[in-house]
Amino acid sequence: MTQKNNKHRQSSGREACGGGEIKAPPAQAAKAEFQDGFSTRAIHAGQHPDPATGAIVTPVYLTSTYVQEEVGVTKGYDYSRGGNPTRTALEKNVASLEGGHSAFAFGSGMAAITTLLLDYDAGAHVVVSRNVYGGTFRLFERVSKRHGFHFSFVDARDPQIVEKAFTPQTKLLFLETPTNPMMELADIAALSRLAHARGAKVAVDNTFLTPYFQRPLEQGADYVIHSATKYIGGHSDVVGGLAVTKTAEDADRLHFLQMSIGAILSPFDSWLLLRGLKTLAVRMREHAKNATAIARYLEKHAKVKRVLFPALESHPQFELARRQSSGPGGLLSFELDGGQREAKRFVESTRVCSLAESLGAVETLISIPSLMTHASVPKPQREALGITDNLIRISVGIEDEADLLADLAQAFTRC
Ligand SMILES: Cc1ncc(COP(=O)(O)O)c(C=O)c1O
Repeated sequence: MTQKNNKHRQSSGREACGGGEIKAPPAQAAKAEFQDGFSTRAIHAGQHPDPATGAIVTPVYLTSTYVQEEVGVTKGYDYSRGGNPTRTALEKNVASLEGGHSAFAFGSGMAAITTLLLDYDAGAHVVVSRNVYGGTFRLFERVSKRHGFHFSFVDARDPQIVEKAFTPQTKLLFLETPTNPMMELADIAALSRLAHARGAKVAVDNTFLTPYFQRPLEQGADYVIHSATKYIGGHSDVVGGLAVTKTAEDADRLHFLQMSIGAILSPFDSWLLLRGLKTLAVRMREHAKNATAIARYLEKHAKVKRVLFPALESHPQFELARRQSSGPGGLLSFELDGGQREAKRFVESTRVCSLAESLGAVETLISIPSLMTHASVPKPQREALGITDNLIRISVGIEDEADLLADLAQAFTRC
């Protein structure tokens, strides 16, 4: 997939980093290069053998600037804030996997969300699913409000509640589905229709299911967001974020914002994410298999009050989960019979599951949301969201299923 003509004269199109005019870096307009399946694209899309050496792996282009053949004639890059070939490969790959027009890589998931939000003017109103990631809530409520944005946090399980929150100033519906740790789902297709009829766009944070299990753009959303720190990277060794657009127009604006705000992903971190993506499909299958086995085990356990996992028939939105995603991912929560003391003893007794925040990596991580990720949310508000003191969350990794089940069994005997 080498470029036919890799000379670019700075003439029309998007602006260069220095403020002059330049054609977009060749990364953009990255519709699937192959009509191939997901795993094939995860391994190959956006990547070509290195033209100089034949190296099969995309190099880490550690460069800030690019030599111009004549004034204004480049090979598509002029400065690495605006575009870098390693980041380009990652962005093309992710655009292909999400079925989008273009993807943009950022230094973190929060940087991706911030950049998307800055596409709107002060005064804009955003409807947000309650129970979004705490950092997203903090960015919206404690940072962006000061700059004139308005937010309504709603139970996005119910389209009527979402509809009621819309005002004439609503520009964006921001969904996270499923949510964490409560595993609440929002109907992407129905809510996209609702938002579009009111002139608003829809962004879906797809961190938990990844494009392997859920592709929001195909269901009507306009943007997909990722904390690539999680399943996309998959190995607990990189912090990164992604925003994917469905249309060329949105891609132009997001590229302009990415370059102007500058919260970009480094070439090395781009390379780590490319490496992670090559095994995304196999990892997601293993995460889902192990998580399903654990959910079924917990559901039958006498010391467990209830299990929250979208692939269980007992999940109140089981049918929606089946309709809009092809698998459940690796996150689950459960309520232990007892209080915080018992929950603490349980998570401190595991041997294979590590007591830690974060999620989406090969290692199984266990946590108590009320004491860890959601400790800053006041107790009454936490409980209103269902985050009780005895709720335990597991980000199920890809260790041996039998070892994980045995680990949980021995933890039960200690609490
Ligand atoms: C669903 C979700 N979105 C966004 C973020 C923020 O991503 P990052 O930590 O990469 O900034 C997180 C982080 O945990 C998350 O879980």
